[in-house]
Amino acid sequence: MAAVLVRGGTVVNADRSFRADVLCADGKIVAVGEKIDAPTGAEVIDAGGAYVIPGGIDPHTHMEMPFMGTKAIEDFYSGTASALAGGTTMIVDMCIPSPQQSLTDALDEWSDWASKACADYGFHVSITWWSERVAQQMAECLDRGVNSFKHFMAYKGALMVDDEIMFQSFSRCRELGALPLVHAENGEAVFRLQQALLAQGITGPEGHALSRPPHVEAEAVTRAIMLAKITGVPLYIVHTSCRETVEAIARARAEGQRVFGEPLAQYLCLDDSVYRNPDWDFAASRVMSPPFRSKEHQDALWAGLMSGQLQVVATDHCTFLLEQKRLGLDNFTKIPNGTGGIEERLKIVWHFGVNAGRLTPEEFVAVTSTNIAKILNVYPQKGAIVQGADADLVVWDPKATQTISQKTHHSKLDVNVFEGITVQGVPKVTLSRGKVVWRDGQLDVEKGAGRNVPRPPMAPMFEAQAKWNELTRPTGVKREVHIHQTP
Ligand code: URP
Ligand code: ZN
Ligand code: ZN
Ligand code: ZN
Repeated sequence: MAAVLVRGGTVVNADRSFRADVLCADGKIVAVGEKIDAPTGAEVIDAGGAYVIPGGIDPHTHMEMPFMGTKAIEDFYSGTASALAGGTTMIVDMCIPSPQQSLTDALDEWSDWASKACADYGFHVSITWWSERVAQQMAECLDRGVNSFKHFMAYKGALMVDDEIMFQSFSRCRELGALPLVHAENGEAVFRLQQALLAQGITGPEGHALSRPPHVEAEAVTRAIMLAKITGVPLYIVHTSCRETVEAIARARAEGQRVFGEPLAQYLCLDDSVYRNPDWDFAASRVMSPPFRSKEHQDALWAGLMSGQLQVVATDHCTFLLEQKRLGLDNFTKIPNGTGGIEERLKIVWHFGVNAGRLTPEEFVAVTSTNIAKILNVYPQKGAIVQGADADLVVWDPKATQTISQKTHHSKLDVNVFEGITVQGVPKVTLSRGKVVWRDGQLDVEKGAGRNVPRPPMAPMFEAQAKWNELTRPTGVKREVHIHQTP
């Protein structure tokens, strides 16, 4: 593969920005500095007037996921191609064993599907049941480069786990140096509220939002945080959507817990009025869990990112066609949950974050790439423009504008929840492991070019936590043996 020299841009890392050229060869960044000479045969990309940022990492996707009686339409190829078109060069997908299924069998299945990916990827593995065998297989997942395990506190009767399983699994995560993730919604409360709404005759998509109010999320978030505290392990909360969650995370962090929060690009600019839209298709195509919230919650999520209490913006890209959404035409509880956004994430965060003065370009890089690379222990292989890192980078044009539309997106999905939003700031060129895969609106990707990126366990924060756990471990009281005297 020919070397590529990205010349004349402003490199933006999470810690600082500086004018530099970036030379990539053999899939790696081999030099970052001023006035680098182009090696013979190298391709030169002019980044004058643009930023050069680390490729985005979307740590929460569901390609091809079997869910709610159907299967997500986006496959690993179309999903990662869409990602690259939007400046995201790595995804971490949720591998979800069915209850009683072996974790490693599920990982085989997901790995097989992912072999057509054209960008790098990794997996979180879900814990949907518990046994000694599951505990053993968690270690086997570690050997296969998985260092995070997801727990669904919702979807009663399907994927939901109870406190017993969470306690066991969180404790096992602590032993292994692996990160527990939670989908935090009280599944029992959701189920009861759904039944009450249906009994009241509310069957449309508005019922979805009404059955999952913020306190359903806040209860589960608080419970998960306390279980993480009790079991002595860091915690990552996926798709954080509301003010109460931001507050619970901030409180836990102020008390010294390592808790991370992940708002979605959708939550940062779309609100719950969509569920009351008279067009059923429009409303149903926005059904996801947790649902979009009101402006008050949106502001809290932005404030969380601005203050550093929330660290990562993801998409939870999980896509169902209208025809699939219509499985719930008479009953909102049967509408497959999920929305897309993998191609739009960076543009949305830049436009509503950087252009609005909420985030600096460096903070933008932190929340779209660097922070999650650190949390998942692949930094600085990913998440930074430094010598020796993978050559995943984006020439970002802060002046160019684009109106987002389903007609021009690269997803297989037949709607785009961001339809009609005009953003300023778009990826002009994307490099994936040193190869130009997106340039001026054209994709040039290869099925299967993406690689599984192994993530080692025992990230530095686990070593720190282990020391702390040892220092604060429970101790007994030594007492003199004595004999009771009877009066
Ligand atoms: O509605 C959602 N979020 N669908 C994907 C599955 C999940 O809960 O993450
Ligand atoms: Zn979820
Ligand atoms: Zn998800
Ligand atoms: Zn006694």
